[in-house]
Amino acid sequence: MKSMKAPSRKSVVPARIGAADRFPRDFLWGAATSAHQVEGGNRWNDWSRSEREGRVPHASGEACRHWQLYESDFDLARSWGHNAHRFSLEWSRIEPKPGAWDSEALAHYARVVRALRERSMEPIVTLHHFTNPDWFTASGGWLRRDAPALFTRYVERVKDVLGGEVRYWITINEPTIYVLHGFVTGDWPPHARGAWMQAARALRGMARAHVTAYRSLRSGSDPPLVGFAHSSPWIVPCDPSRPADRMAAWVRDLALNRLFLRLIGASRVGQPLDFLGINYYSRTFVRGERGVRRWLGEKCEQDHHPDRGPSSDAGWEVYPPGLESSLERFSRLDIPLIVTENGIATRDERLRWTYLQEHLEALGRAVARGLPVIGYLFWSLMDNFEWALGTEARYGLAEVDFETQSRSPRPAARLLAEVSRTRLVPAKEAFVELRQGDEIAG
Ligand code: FCB
Repeated sequence: MKSMKAPSRKSVVPARIGAADRFPRDFLWGAATSAHQVEGGNRWNDWSRSEREGRVPHASGEACRHWQLYESDFDLARSWGHNAHRFSLEWSRIEPKPGAWDSEALAHYARVVRALRERSMEPIVTLHHFTNPDWFTASGGWLRRDAPALFTRYVERVKDVLGGEVRYWITINEPTIYVLHGFVTGDWPPHARGAWMQAARALRGMARAHVTAYRSLRSGSDPPLVGFAHSSPWIVPCDPSRPADRMAAWVRDLALNRLFLRLIGASRVGQPLDFLGINYYSRTFVRGERGVRRWLGEKCEQDHHPDRGPSSDAGWEVYPPGLESSLERFSRLDIPLIVTENGIATRDERLRWTYLQEHLEALGRAVARGLPVIGYLFWSLMDNFEWALGTEARYGLAEVDFETQSRSPRPAARLLAEVSRTRLVPAKEAFVELRQGDEIAG
């Protein structure tokens, strides 16, 4: 089937939405997943080692069996009107041992891309989403001097197989979050704790890896669009009248929202970034107490903040204006923006629906103001393995029964389907529960 035409770099700024406030016709709508969270049966990466060794609280096991079920999962997404889908490649499947390539794994991902194209869904492919091959981490991982070269060697192999088929590449998902968990809080592999120097080194390595992977993907004729997925929390001081809180918020914002962009040389002429993926979930209140290092790892007692909105099951505040503000802020890079993740861990379907409705309104305002947003991908297509929270945190447009692997659509799936079809966001009052057997048409 014919693939969707990707916008050229010049023409991507969508026209202002007219009086009817509609999203542009070629807007990308869909959902996002990542390999380790949905595929199941991952054995050769550092997360699965930590799972076996009991260093993380939950095991991913079969996850959503998406490795086997990807076609029916894509059928579902297509039936909801999705015209794009973000997923990640599992490096450890492709290169289970250093320099040894698994052609069957590569062929699998080629089939996945084809399955999306056959359903007229634009593949948005992430090359690194938190997991690393076990051999890589065991031999120093992102602290290795040659980490960028090793990553780029993997990217080149992927390019050989998928290159012509993929228009949108995301090199690395949320590098700062990976580094914070892996080297500061230590709850994720490689489980270093308070290792600030290592954290800085790993982040620099990832920045170099982004740049070299960017160059490699862009070499040749008809280069694709290459970006990374940026965790973009909206960071504010707990008490704006306290200088310490303001300073803490500034430092945290520098570390989480600005540092990686600086390290890769964004906003310079010839920046190695064709689009930026915005992962936006929440607002963070920061209190300037207990020393600079705490400012990065700790939030103030958010529960006690009088301005705080409702919380997700993960304790994250629902704060839709932060999406518009983040899009505005990163529009200064003068490249297209794609919301590559946005969603909520909850079992309250009215809350999930309202979360989505309010964030889509914020997105609509951003587009109407002429900000260069070209797509929106909900986290996630279905409930999945949410890292240290296991399968307890429910993020899916589809509910997953992990015993039977059945998928059941949630009201939010219908909302996104409706928005992609009508290009309008319905009013809040439009919420309806889904009854069993209800059809959702996108
Ligand atoms: C993001 C991650 C994604 C998922 C969501 C809830 O930080 O990229 O894998 O865990 O949070």
